Amino acid sequence: MRVGIVGVTGYTGSELLRLLYAHDQVTLTYVTSHSFTGKKLAEVHPQYSGLVDLICRPFSAEEAKEKTDLVFCALPHGEAMDAVSQLVAAGIKIVDLSADFRLLDRDLYREWYNKEHTCPAYLGRAVYGLPELYRKEIREASFVANPGCYPTSVLLALAPLARKKLIRWETLVVDAKSGTSGAGRNPSQLLHFPECAENFRAYRVAVHQHTPEMEQELGRLAGEKVCFTFVPHLLPMIRGILSTIYLQLNTDLQEEDLWRLYEEFYRDEKFVRLFAPPLLVETKYVYGSNYCALSLRKDRRTGKVIIFSAIDNLVKGAAGQAVQNMNIMLGFAEAKGLEMLPLRP
Ligand SMILES: NC(=O)c1ccc[n+]([C@@H]2O[C@H](COP(=O)([O-])OP(=O)(O)OC[C@H]3O[C@@H](n4cnc5c(N)ncnc54)[C@H](OP(=O)(O)O)[C@@H]3O)[C@@H](O)[C@H]2O)c1
Repeated sequence: MRVGIVGVTGYTGSELLRLLYAHDQVTLTYVTSHSFTGKKLAEVHPQYSGLVDLICRPFSAEEAKEKTDLVFCALPHGEAMDAVSQLVAAGIKIVDLSADFRLLDRDLYREWYNKEHTCPAYLGRAVYGLPELYRKEIREASFVANPGCYPTSVLLALAPLARKKLIRWETLVVDAKSGTSGAGRNPSQLLHFPECAENFRAYRVAVHQHTPEMEQELGRLAGEKVCFTFVPHLLPMIRGILSTIYLQLNTDLQEEDLWRLYEEFYRDEKFVRLFAPPLLVETKYVYGSNYCALSLRKDRRTGKVIIFSAIDNLVKGAAGQAVQNMNIMLGFAEAKGLEMLPLRP
């Protein structure tokens, strides 16, 4: 199968390139860039010299249709909606890594992204691409909205409890930490090395744009309205997300019961790995891999459940999950090209 990457020069675009290069059932036939149109990809990223012989093309839905069977769109949110809607209209299979088609509600999009959605007719047409929850729908889909990085870590951590309606939502607090590559490669003062190295801080407290996506998807799982507190932090490292999640249950299940519930829920899932006590997951357990690693504890004094979820934001949080979705959409083995172990120094 022939595949393309729109926005190949960015962090998730480059990660897609790395994964697709090693995938033996697809050939990369079309890559685009806005700023480096006409340049060899190896000129933009010299590490690919002698390995990748592709030229960055300007985006064109017609060219994508002629040259590919499936396209990944790795453009910033707000920029993606126009390209994606053209690709959908042209009848091309697409996995969109941006946030532009994850929310179902145009008003929510305006509220949280401070922008009017220009293709509202396509909202709700994409399948939400979290394979562990929507595998059957993804198999039949031609348009998949790949989940955000924080939402992937949080939804996989909470899905077993949400589906059984066990969470008292008003008690839920998600305290998440991400490496700096989560913000993409555009420089800014806050991401400047002297500003973020040897430093640790919260940002967008209770106003982060991934909040409505998580509330929407947890609400779908639980069949009820969900509202909770989300506090992201910026970690002084490049890759990785660790979400620490605090909640009270509406039943008195003990830690062993919860553990059995999670084991049962994820029994057949290759990319979700449970780490039993005394282990607690770390970002190193998933670095460079497509795994989501989960641990949980119940605080016997306060009754609070605490869940820990680690992913690599560029892999399970973006490009790896996108390739997992492609594998399902094109009928390949789901783990094809994604079976690498986490990197350890
Ligand atoms: N980084 C993550 O961890 C992560 C995780 C999950 C989802 N995502 C989502 O994935 C998407 C890509 O993220 P990223 O981190 O890879 O971003 P990025 O590093 O900033 O890359 C964005 C890409 O889009 C191109 N681009 C930028 N502005 C454009 C414009 N006006 N028109 C056309 N192309 C433009 C850029 O390169 P050129 O200048 O060469 O065109 C680049 O190839 C975003 O929607 C992001 O929210 C990111």
